[in-house]
Amino acid sequence: MVVDIIETAGITYDYQKYIDENSGSLLIRAIDNIALKIEAGKFVSILGQNGSGKSTLAKLLAALLEPTSGVLYIDGKDSTDKAQMIDICKSVGIVFQNPDNQMVTSIVEDDVAFGPENIGIPTDEIWQRVEKSLKDVDMLEYRHSTINKLSGGQKQRIAIAGILAMQPKCIILDEPTAMLDPQGRNEVIRTIRELNRTKKITIIMITHNIDEVICSDQIIVINAGKVVMNGNPPYVFSQTKTLEGYGLAVPQATILSNELKKSGISLPDGIADDSELINSIMNYCKQM
Ligand SMILES: Nc1ncnc2c1ncn2[C@@H]1O[C@H](COP(=O)(O)OP(=O)(O)O)[C@@H](O)[C@H]1O
Ligand SMILES: [Mg+2]
Repeated sequence: MVVDIIETAGITYDYQKYIDENSGSLLIRAIDNIALKIEAGKFVSILGQNGSGKSTLAKLLAALLEPTSGVLYIDGKDSTDKAQMIDICKSVGIVFQNPDNQMVTSIVEDDVAFGPENIGIPTDEIWQRVEKSLKDVDMLEYRHSTINKLSGGQKQRIAIAGILAMQPKCIILDEPTAMLDPQGRNEVIRTIRELNRTKKITIIMITHNIDEVICSDQIIVINAGKVVMNGNPPYVFSQTKTLEGYGLAVPQATILSNELKKSGISLPDGIADDSELINSIMNYCKQM
């Protein structure tokens, strides 16, 4: 049975921006009539240039903001239903861009324990969850470490462990690698792929970096608060010109494979990385 962890019907979100006494406030529509379904267990990427509405959408999907209009169901529950807020918080967790803003204590294991403590999980179970979550992000050996001595990639993995300790069905990550070096970026991407693959946790990864979305099941492109593309990577990556129009740089391998196809070489659609391109060219050569 297909279960949707997220379902929205025409949601909008307006920010109110105060100008001055004479002009009063201005409404800024950050999310404009978005209808989405995200199936449980999938790895979904939300891609869009700066200012396109990604962070606002992330906060809506995590019930940190209420839609101005339209309805949003998180794990079957209306996101504005106060009576179900604890259940919603258990279902969906969010990791932000800056690891330093997400830490609430100074020692790794205390930080991971913070979420479950807040929802009244018994002490014994909290420590079992902490140990398991740290193991899942490969940080157990750092459980007694001071957080500010860790690298950016390690801090983001601690933030992910803190969410895992809540045993969520879905993790939303808002540009989790934007402040990391290449090694930290790899650590984080590897960790979330592994959580999706082995634990079937739904991943909603928000990014403006097209290279990070290659292995997704579904890519949702947003621009000016609207969903402008929604499909699998081969479909999305085959629309090079359209993506460029939304300010999204397309991988070199995709550009090259599209050029090769134009010159009559038969290659599959939507090639997105170098090894895929090399394999496709080798297959083509074998058939010659
Ligand atoms: N607190 C805020 N007050 C007013 N406008 C905001 C606020 N936060 C975001 N916006 C505006 O909403 C739009 C979407 O922003 P955001 O969701 O942060 O986009 P992204 O994460 O894709 O960069 C932008 O036009 C931004 O300027
Ligand atoms: Mg943002």
